[in-house]
Amino acid sequence: MSVTGAAAFRAGVAQLQAAGIADPARDVRLLLAHAMGISADKVMLALHDPLPDAVAAALEACLSARANRQPVSQITGQRQFWGRDFIVTPDVLDPRPETETLIAAALDQPFTRLLDLGTGSGAILLTLLAERPAATGLGADLSPDALVVAAANAEALGLAHRAQVIQSDWWAAITGRFDLIVSNPPYIALDEMAGLAPDVRDHEPHMALTDGADGLSAYRAIAAGALAHLAPGGRLMVEIGPIQGAAVASFFVAAGFCDVVVLPDFDGRDRVVSARAPV
Ligand SMILES: C[S@@+](CC[C@H](N)C(=O)[O-])C[C@H]1O[C@@H](n2cnc3c(N)ncnc32)[C@H](O)[C@@H]1O
Repeated sequence: MSVTGAAAFRAGVAQLQAAGIADPARDVRLLLAHAMGISADKVMLALHDPLPDAVAAALEACLSARANRQPVSQITGQRQFWGRDFIVTPDVLDPRPETETLIAAALDQPFTRLLDLGTGSGAILLTLLAERPAATGLGADLSPDALVVAAANAEALGLAHRAQVIQSDWWAAITGRFDLIVSNPPYIALDEMAGLAPDVRDHEPHMALTDGADGLSAYRAIAAGALAHLAPGGRLMVEIGPIQGAAVASFFVAAGFCDVVVLPDFDGRDRVVSARAPV
């Protein structure tokens, strides 16, 4: 016999609570919306109706994946970032709200030629291009599987004509100069990986999380090549972990950058290092 959406919702919350999920009601709402094929803001309106068997089965599969700590975005296949839907798969980092600090800082000044190093889903590259219709951009990543997702997002957002993606080990395949270079590189130190939540550690690509070293090696590589790829006065902006500001700023100063500043996120934690190429 079919259950109502409300009964399935309550049972789902209890199941995720028992599995130790931090915000079970939020997750069940998103998973139920996904199983029903409706937007999350419509779920509450549909709770009184009986749940069709196919929807109940889809929800059961989603709940069991979530109880096994798979991130909601990987189960639903999407994540909202800066107001747009991005395709998310296990091959890319789930775009994080804190990365919106980098977006806000980048949009503070004009740019027309953009490079995003370690583009992953393309969340940063495509958001910046969507917000600046005259700009074109290049997204680079070492992971060919991530680049497939970035290209699919470019297509889905109608940005493929302005966004190119390329496989590159940091600067290895990058040519030309840009007026804005952005990056959210892997910055978790190898010895911090064991302490991560299982949702992250066991489900997101390790090469998106850690450099396998002290968490700073990507910044060293980026600092070493950035001036050769920036137009005079061009900007370099990277996301950082909250305790990495001083170290990353020192790499940029040593590489010859001016106006090196560490910017906080909305919670007041250091989140972005910004620098400018000499004119
Ligand atoms: C923290 S994720 C950021 C993804 C996306 N830019 C975002 O902010 O959601 C870091 C990205 O860097 C890529 N990456 C790791 N090592 C790299 C390397 N040596 N060269 C280029 N990209 C690399 C990973 O594959 C991953 O997509």
